[in-house]
Amino acid sequence: MIRIPSHIKELKPYVAGKTIAEVVKEYKPERISKLASNENRLGCSPKANEAALESLGAIMNYPDPACLDLRAKIADKIGVKPENVIAGSGSEGVMQLIIKTFFEPDEHAITASATFIGFVVLINSRGVGLRQVPMTDDYRFDLEAIADAISPKTKMVYLANPNNPTGTYFTKAEFERFMKRVPDDVLVIMDEAYYEFAAGLDDYPNSVEYGFDNVITLRTFSKAYGLAGYRIGYGVAHPDIISTLMKVKLPFEPGLPAQHAAIGALDDDNFLYLTEVMVEKGRNRLYRFLDEHGVTYVKSASNSVMTVFDTEEEAVHFTDEMLKKGVILRRLPAFGLPNCVRITVGLDEEMEHFEQAFEELFSKA
Ligand SMILES: Cc1ncc(COP(=O)(O)O)c(C=O)c1O
Repeated sequence: MIRIPSHIKELKPYVAGKTIAEVVKEYKPERISKLASNENRLGCSPKANEAALESLGAIMNYPDPACLDLRAKIADKIGVKPENVIAGSGSEGVMQLIIKTFFEPDEHAITASATFIGFVVLINSRGVGLRQVPMTDDYRFDLEAIADAISPKTKMVYLANPNNPTGTYFTKAEFERFMKRVPDDVLVIMDEAYYEFAAGLDDYPNSVEYGFDNVITLRTFSKAYGLAGYRIGYGVAHPDIISTLMKVKLPFEPGLPAQHAAIGALDDDNFLYLTEVMVEKGRNRLYRFLDEHGVTYVKSASNSVMTVFDTEEEAVHFTDEMLKKGVILRRLPAFGLPNCVRITVGLDEEMEHFEQAFEELFSKA
């Protein structure tokens, strides 16, 4: 028998939300609203799909391993140089690469207790130690406590801003104070998967603009750009960090259609604008509805809103019953929040479906 390392044996894999096909098979609801995975309910830019389709003429060839065109396009868009950028199979692909590349024996990572589960799974699969610092009472990263937890064996700190699943963010002042306390040999991953939804807030720190040598910013095309199925994201950092990662990266990732779709998406500011409008409108509608129905929730700077129930049983009942009515939501026990449920903000008709299902459920109760 092949011996499996104990950290892999004990690994709890990432469990995604239910797929539409699974829900159709199980409950046969009249309609489905998939509000579980923070995808873009508006779809994606037609320019992205057109560019991907065009690239298929060359699909027999390996793509450019250095992703030069895409890196140049991203660099131009965000005001850095191409050598500051690396592209990967989703931002999680870049995250995996970072975790694979930098750890030495006995070093560990630090993050918060209720953050993106993908990071936790990747760290555990690498067999690296992880310290998770409790969030504040209002579900925010406690940056002071995280800075306190840094020791000479800390290699990496992971911060998601805005955070998933809470939707909360930390401010410029908090980030600046934190960075003053972080030794420059500790790598800070700033996961900005939801950057586009928060960028308009006055006190939101765009980590790229600071140019810290020990920060790598991760962004994705999966959320605001609606390209989750292509698997494409990127990292922005000092050229030495990027060139180190390039040595370890799988040469031909991301795939050709993904690289082209991302280039096409970057040419469509209007789609991004429409997405931001949809999310803001949907979020406000959801807040109003939850207020009217006495449901506790956490204000969000992202495309999802986290609701908080008194007990895990209530959260389970709510999610299961909504699922039977075709509304797919995300419970959060894997994120350490068993009494919470995350709702992705969707189109008007999806928000209406959510409201209708909610009212049917609670009028029965
Ligand atoms: C905070 C955060 N980071 C990263 C990701 C992964 O994104 P990608 O599709 O780019 O791998 C997600 C997806 O839900 C996320 O919420």
